[in-house]
Amino acid sequence: MPSPSTPLRLAVLGSGRGTNLQSILDAIDQGTLAAQVVCVISDVPDALILERARRHHIPAFHISAAPFKSKLEGPAETAYIRTLKEHGADTIALAGFMRIIKTGLLAAFPGRILNIHPALLPSFPGAQSWKQALDHGAKITGCTVHLVDAGTDTGPIIIQRAVPVLADDTPESLHARIQEQEHLAYPEALRLFATTRIQIEGRRVRLLPPS
Ligand code: GAR
Repeated sequence: MPSPSTPLRLAVLGSGRGTNLQSILDAIDQGTLAAQVVCVISDVPDALILERARRHHIPAFHISAAPFKSKLEGPAETAYIRTLKEHGADTIALAGFMRIIKTGLLAAFPGRILNIHPALLPSFPGAQSWKQALDHGAKITGCTVHLVDAGTDTGPIIIQRAVPVLADDTPESLHARIQEQEHLAYPEALRLFATTRIQIEGRRVRLLPPS
């Protein structure tokens, strides 16, 4: 595994618009994140994230995860792992990848898969968390970047950013403000992941200087 001074060889997996991918690419371009995005994979054939990657000359692949609707397992999981290894990825960033990661991928990249979630975990795991927060009447929500474990949105937390829920918020307006914070949080979490030693004590992530 790379030492803290080695640039990350990052693969980004997503199912949607890829605005988080864009924030990662912008941070790399601005010199604030030492990483190279080595490939982008989507389970959705026409996802904008693939188009965004291609515009940046990054190898971009649609790999179907059928027959499963909400998880990545079986031959599809094997195909994802093969592509990730072929491109020399050492770290995986899930960025709006709307599938549950299973043990095969977790074992192929132990401790090196991160996810961004649009709520302050452990509140509102799962889908459309901004809508869950609004429906619940939460006054504060936000986003979380965490390491991925075998549960759904349960892994140790690296970074969180808070977003107030406003009286006149709609699901769309709240999600848009959460995304503004995501675009700061994901590059920052990856920078910490790349430049510090991560020590996990129980559920707590400690970020230590490189040895
Ligand atoms: C982001 O808000 C991300 O947190 C969310 O999907 C969106 C993807 O946006 N992920 C989840 O809900 C995962 N449970 P993007 O495609 O523009 O980066």
